[in-house]
Amino acid sequence: MNTRKLFTLALLSAAVLVVGLVAQPASAQQITPQEQLGRNLYFDLNLSEPAGQGCVSCHDPNFGFADPDDNLPVSEGVVTGLFGTRNSPSAAYAVFFPEFTLKGGIQGGQFWDGRALNLTEQAKGPFLNPVEMANTSEAQVIEKICAGPYADLFKQVCGPNACDPANTETSYHCMAASIAAFEGTSELNQFSSKFDAVEAGLATFTALEDQGRALFSGRGKCGHCHPAKAGGNQPVVFTDFKFHNIGVPKNSEFPFDPAFVDLGLGGRTDINDPGEYGRFKTTHLRNIDLTPPFMHNGVIKTLKEVVHFYNTRDVLPLCNPDLGSEDPNFGTTCWPPPEVPENMDSNFVGNLGLTDAEEDAIVAYMLTFSDGFFTP
Ligand code: HEC
Ligand code: HEC
Repeated sequence: MNTRKLFTLALLSAAVLVVGLVAQPASAQQITPQEQLGRNLYFDLNLSEPAGQGCVSCHDPNFGFADPDDNLPVSEGVVTGLFGTRNSPSAAYAVFFPEFTLKGGIQGGQFWDGRALNLTEQAKGPFLNPVEMANTSEAQVIEKICAGPYADLFKQVCGPNACDPANTETSYHCMAASIAAFEGTSELNQFSSKFDAVEAGLATFTALEDQGRALFSGRGKCGHCHPAKAGGNQPVVFTDFKFHNIGVPKNSEFPFDPAFVDLGLGGRTDINDPGEYGRFKTTHLRNIDLTPPFMHNGVIKTLKEVVHFYNTRDVLPLCNPDLGSEDPNFGTTCWPPPEVPENMDSNFVGNLGLTDAEEDAIVAYMLTFSDGFFTP
């Protein structure tokens, strides 16, 4: 072997070494080009107008792929002072919600009201939403990708002519589908919680967690809507994929119009049905302790408060109507009325007769739903 070949070899192995050392999560190593493109797009802060916000800003891996800002019930867009009206749910495990359907009982879809059919349709929204990433057109987003550092990968995945303005619509769809593909990878869906370890026979619950487990699916009635058993070929994600009105109170701290009422599923322009007012999608509960505040409007701040709400919604007196959720007794000895009184569930929610210690046990059980306990 001549020196030149040797030198090339040495360079090559050095390059391999460097690539191996670059901080890449283990799970990101064997992903497809499309998933890698989706990953780049997800973490890119240059695709908003002005630059500075990406999916990751409101769905941060360090916070269960939800909003890192616990002080705000909703999320601020890239334009300062502009807010959405809802709390950011987790983008992790969202892939398990089936496509939205009206057949055989309304279920599935993305967003609190299920209005996006699936993850691909969902991913098309934030780029153009004025209170999120605020681009003015699909073409503007594609131009940014094509001027950016992974334009070649974009063309490899979405076609050699993906940057041609004549192809904006198909390129935009391909971009969104790539983000959806990334959201389906094990980086977001780890199944590495203590709950999973127990299911796999590799760990055991503490006495408190085990008491919580029994209450969750028993007298606490949580399992009715957040089943802790796998269904069909679906893994456990603690949701029935359906929509319910559990009587969540209005959030008095909202940084926008206090007269606003969120009608949820029934308020969707394409559904517009008083029989569905107040219903929101049952959230999955994976990584739930990493994603406060809770509920579609972020009105509930802790998991203890969540369980206390289910336990005592119909038992405690009403809070001071002038203070609403800002009443200092909120969440302990009073609750405001539901934001939407129609269609409220009273069979499984509101008066469970759980003791304080039993509430704590259910919380302890939910803490076992967070990833990072073991390597599956
Ligand atoms: C400014 C904050 C913000 C940004 C930026 C943002 N999101 Fe969201 N995301 C939200 C909020 C708020 C909701 C709930 C909105 C609703 O239900 O109407 C949401 C909902 C979702 C959902 C639905 C989850 C479920 O369980 O229904 C997914 C998935 C998601 N976002 C992924 C993304 C992706 C991918 C991007 C980037 C293209 C993105 N988000 C950018 C705030 C944000
Ligand atoms: C009748 C169905 C139903 C029952 C019973 C139920 N839930 Fe829920 N749960 C929901 C729905 C629907 C939401 C979203 C409501 C909203 O935001 O308006 C939710 C939201 C939550 C959230 C907040 C999720 C988030 O991301 O903000 C937690 C935590 C939770 N439930 C835990 C429980 C526990 C613990 C129990 C039992 C004590 C329980 N649930 C019983 C349907 C139910």
